[in-house]
Amino acid sequence: MVAAKLFRRNCLRRCQRTLKTHGQAVGYPKVVKARGRYTKYHYRFHPFDIVGWDGYVYPWSFNINDFQPITGKLHLPPPIHQTFTGWNFVVCSFCPRALDFHPEAIVIPYNHSNVDSDEVLYYCNDKFGSRKGIEEGSITMHPLGIPHGPQPGAVERSLGHTKTEELAVMLDTFHPLWMTEDAVAIEDPDYWKSWQTR
Ligand SMILES: [Fe+2]
Repeated sequence: MVAAKLFRRNCLRRCQRTLKTHGQAVGYPKVVKARGRYTKYHYRFHPFDIVGWDGYVYPWSFNINDFQPITGKLHLPPPIHQTFTGWNFVVCSFCPRALDFHPEAIVIPYNHSNVDSDEVLYYCNDKFGSRKGIEEGSITMHPLGIPHGPQPGAVERSLGHTKTEELAVMLDTFHPLWMTEDAVAIEDPDYWKSWQTR
């Protein structure tokens, strides 16, 4: 018991000694090492003069409406939508944008099967170019190796379109995703039929 008390007292002393507040705008030098060279920055306020964060793993957020989409003459692959890269996953944002502008461009994705990732899409509205039958809040999951893409007729319907209003977020994971019981309970068992021609 005594040892524990002493340990706590020492910890408190250590914390009181190290957790100092620097609120004055007196200028704080910070040396940054890059490519073997040192550069000195001068901050007006202390770099640790922050309010703090609310406990999320990520210390900041990004509004999808601030994402600046990229458009090409012909269809460009999904990495143009990539917003975040993490350990073994990427996040892509499909935002309203001008579409591919070659006169013979097919402006929606080609059919594909991912060779290295599972793919989850969350639809923020019901205007996804390559897919009908989705609505705001829909989620699709396409596991690694399963072919998917535009439904029959989607390519034809897309020809001549010059812009899209789609808004969706995609999560690609490089390790397998497993369905929870809750996810299985809300699964649409007929989803695979959306690729049938009739
Ligand atoms: Fe895909």
